[in-house]
Amino acid sequence: MSFDVEALRRQFPILDRTVHGKPLHYLDNSATSQIPNTVLDAVERHEIAHRANVLRGIHYLAEAATEAYENARKDVALFINAADSSEVVFTSGTTSAINLVAHSFGQGLKPGDEIVISMLEHHSNIVPWQLLRQRSGIVLKVIPATDDGRMDLDKLPDIVTEKCRMIAVTHVSNVTGADTDIHRIVEAARAVDAKVLIDGAQRVPHGPVDVQNLGVDFYTFSGHKMYAPNGIGVLWARRELLDDLPPFMGGGEMIRTVTMEDTIFAEPPHKFEAGTPPIAQAVGLAAATRWLSETDTPEAILHVAKLAERTLSGLAEIADGRIRIIGPQGTQSRLPVISFTVDGIHPHDVCQILDSYGVALRGGHHCAQPLMDFFDVTGTTRASLTFYNNQADVDALLEGLAAAIKKLT
Ligand SMILES: Cc1ncc(COP(=O)(O)O)c(C=O)c1O
Repeated sequence: MSFDVEALRRQFPILDRTVHGKPLHYLDNSATSQIPNTVLDAVERHEIAHRANVLRGIHYLAEAATEAYENARKDVALFINAADSSEVVFTSGTTSAINLVAHSFGQGLKPGDEIVISMLEHHSNIVPWQLLRQRSGIVLKVIPATDDGRMDLDKLPDIVTEKCRMIAVTHVSNVTGADTDIHRIVEAARAVDAKVLIDGAQRVPHGPVDVQNLGVDFYTFSGHKMYAPNGIGVLWARRELLDDLPPFMGGGEMIRTVTMEDTIFAEPPHKFEAGTPPIAQAVGLAAATRWLSETDTPEAILHVAKLAERTLSGLAEIADGRIRIIGPQGTQSRLPVISFTVDGIHPHDVCQILDSYGVALRGGHHCAQPLMDFFDVTGTTRASLTFYNNQADVDALLEGLAAAIKKLT
């Protein structure tokens, strides 16, 4: 079956709009993806028909909202092949999911215990561990990057010692697009009885993952990068780990009983969901998992891979070698997150001129300043593609870029 990108685009009303009088070419999907009609409809239907708080009301709407919220959890569990929906904790995003683990798992650590992260991490998988280091005296170790923007997994034997308690790394880099070999991470962790946390924020938008097959302990991702609303994310963890971990935040919804002396907590996942959760957002996330499971066909994946290939080869042809790709040069073991610098031109200037052509890109350090330091750049320009991008988007990027370079030199 062939892939009809124009039919897919019709599911995304925003792709029809113009910016600065030009058709929109949205290539900032790694920051936030757009939302298809089916997700917008699911959220709207929920708010119109079932808006109420969850887990506490006795009336009809409260029960309907609770059912919708818990069904959303089941859909997410199916999408990542969790063994049980109680392993899915709703958070406000990847950042809050990682902070939850750093805080709750961190409570069981002692000075000198080691956490291993990598040079390719987003700040949200660096700073929570640095905060834990300040609180608990743990040691933070870093897997270096290779010159082509991957994790240097050959260094694992030197870095992962008997003191390692957790390896926490990204599945796909939000700067270089490099796809991490998770099985090697798991193997290194298991050899010393350490846990594995994977930041899947950039991987999940490209199709379902199988957390059981990956063999990891914690997996995190954000709704707004995978065609769902803002303000919702997921922490998946194996049930026995969630049973053992202390809660992160305290408040309503996460308790069984409270007296002035003590609290007995609810079972997971509710133990980790203090306060009113993002209910309509969870309904939207569930709709997005269903949409993505249907959309992510081999033809659709091939379509995006071809666009990425054309983008990379187009960039190589522009401007007599003034463009430097920050990351893998080819399309092997990488996703369509493409960062580059233009010799002598600041990424913000590149993005501003491209914006006037209707092309939405991201310019800056991408919340990955250590990686920028490694590559000795202040920032990069990033084009991130997904299923609904088409050849016109790639053409607009390459033409706009050629014009920007001409204008700024
Ligand atoms: C790899 C990666 N991890 C974590 C995050 C943080 O996600 P959020 O801001 O949704 O919490 C991002 C966001 O860009 C990301 O790309």
